[in-house]
Amino acid sequence: MASPPWQYHEPEHPGPDFDAVAPSYDHNMQKFRDIQGEIEEILSFLQLQIDDTVLEMGTGTGEFALAAARRCAQVFAIDISPGMLDLARNKAQERGVDNIRFLSGGFLTYRHRDKPPDAIVSQIALHHLPDFWKQIALLNMAGMLRPGGRLCLRDIVYSFDPQGYEREIERFIVSTGERAGPGFAQSMTRHINKEFSTMDWIMRGLIERAGLLIEKEDHKEGFLGLYLCRKV
Ligand SMILES: C[S@@+](CC[C@H](N)C(=O)[O-])C[C@H]1O[C@@H](n2cnc3c(N)ncnc32)[C@H](O)[C@@H]1O
Repeated sequence: MASPPWQYHEPEHPGPDFDAVAPSYDHNMQKFRDIQGEIEEILSFLQLQIDDTVLEMGTGTGEFALAAARRCAQVFAIDISPGMLDLARNKAQERGVDNIRFLSGGFLTYRHRDKPPDAIVSQIALHHLPDFWKQIALLNMAGMLRPGGRLCLRDIVYSFDPQGYEREIERFIVSTGERAGPGFAQSMTRHINKEFSTMDWIMRGLIERAGLLIEKEDHKEGFLGLYLCRKV
């Protein structure tokens, strides 16, 4: 069925062309993020059981999905970028992981036809939607989860004081440049200029209004937010 004309069209998000950046994505991200540390942090919150199912929205190159697949029965790895999905699928094959279903879909369009997942994870992806559509995405994810299920959301979320925003933004861009090189500083500049990262108090409200209880929240450098939540 065709979407109504007012529906946010997910593939037209203002972020990079993920099909094009897929081959270099892991290499570049690792300069800036502790990917394994982030995965462990989420897995330790989830405490997955062997018969659990996990859904990841905006899976990208699939590192989290691959790690979760070793700890549970089934992972559903969803993304709108065919290039990212192909790369993640190839990794799964190379690593002999056969309990991940890689599916094309978006926060707003994916419909889960299996039993409700025990956990949903999304990292560095929700900011591709403007705030109203973030709310709809969170309602969709909360609707899919089983009662008592957990949602982990990590994203670029602004927790600095907006009174001093110029200084905070400049400081962050310089520090990402020092850690990950000028290309990464440039992509962060573009992110702040064009993408839909929002403020921590707005994100908290969006999560709570989706019927999720925030059990733990963590903010780093004023720019990276982590929300560990439970469906009430
Ligand atoms: C910055 S990458 C993050 C990938 C991975 N989760 C990580 O932590 O490295 C963002 C991913 O979200 C996907 N994405 C963007 N908009 C989306 C949407 N509306 N629904 C689902 N995935 C989306 C992109 O295709 C891309 O793979």
